[in-house]
Amino acid sequence: MEVSLGFIQPRLRFGDLDWNMGRIDRLADTLDSPDLIVLPELTYTGYLFRSREEALELGRRFWEPSLLHVLRLSERLSATVVAGVAEPDGDRLYNSAVVASRGELLGIYRKIHLFNEEKIWFDPGDRPPRVFDIGFRLGVMICFDWAFPEVARSLALQGADVIAHPSNLVFDYAYTATLVRARENSVYIVTANRVGMDDRGDKRLLFKGMSQISSPDMEPIYRARPYTEEAYTAIVDLGRARDKWITRRNHLLRDRRPELYTLGGEELEREEA
Ligand code: ACM
Repeated sequence: MEVSLGFIQPRLRFGDLDWNMGRIDRLADTLDSPDLIVLPELTYTGYLFRSREEALELGRRFWEPSLLHVLRLSERLSATVVAGVAEPDGDRLYNSAVVASRGELLGIYRKIHLFNEEKIWFDPGDRPPRVFDIGFRLGVMICFDWAFPEVARSLALQGADVIAHPSNLVFDYAYTATLVRARENSVYIVTANRVGMDDRGDKRLLFKGMSQISSPDMEPIYRARPYTEEAYTAIVDLGRARDKWITRRNHLLRDRRPELYTLGGEELEREEA
């Protein structure tokens, strides 16, 4: 079965909802009948907050228009769209990804592994990663979740063919690590990374782009240009992801030996940084 997977790599501006929606719409206009489009992490607010209060204020103000924008985009593209959003829930705030298909909200994934200052701005996700049935099986993880192989593995065990990976990457080795996650689980991974600078005066972060479609063979099927806006789709064969045999005698999921995996780690204290 062939499907068209892609991403939008926009130049985002911190706290500028109209600008951010406009860039996404302009890039979306260039896409040709995708099945799945992935947008970056925290697409509408930007990333580099000054405080939890600021994140909560922007998250609350942007939530409804962001959600509406993702729904409309998925309707306009007649596709599934996965987009990173700040999701307020009472006094809580999650770094989340909305999954919308042809104008309908399918669900929300809340990032479970918060990176660095995200631990100040957000609450960690409180639900297991899950798979959505959209004609094929779609899992979602957000940026730094790549560093925890358990996430992609748990999605593969739930039957994921493809993992959508909204990101604001900061480590260059994340591109290679994501290729490894794709190979060790035999899945496609669509990493959408933004470009542009969050310049907050006293601190700034420049985002590199190079959004990537990783194949189950550990190849970058496509890697976008650095520091430049882009939207791209690739046609892929899901049969390749569904074949979990790595030799005639080795199956990536069935050969697991969970009864021998003494995970340990219970004694590690969750120290505050
Ligand atoms: C990250 O998780 N945004 C590095």
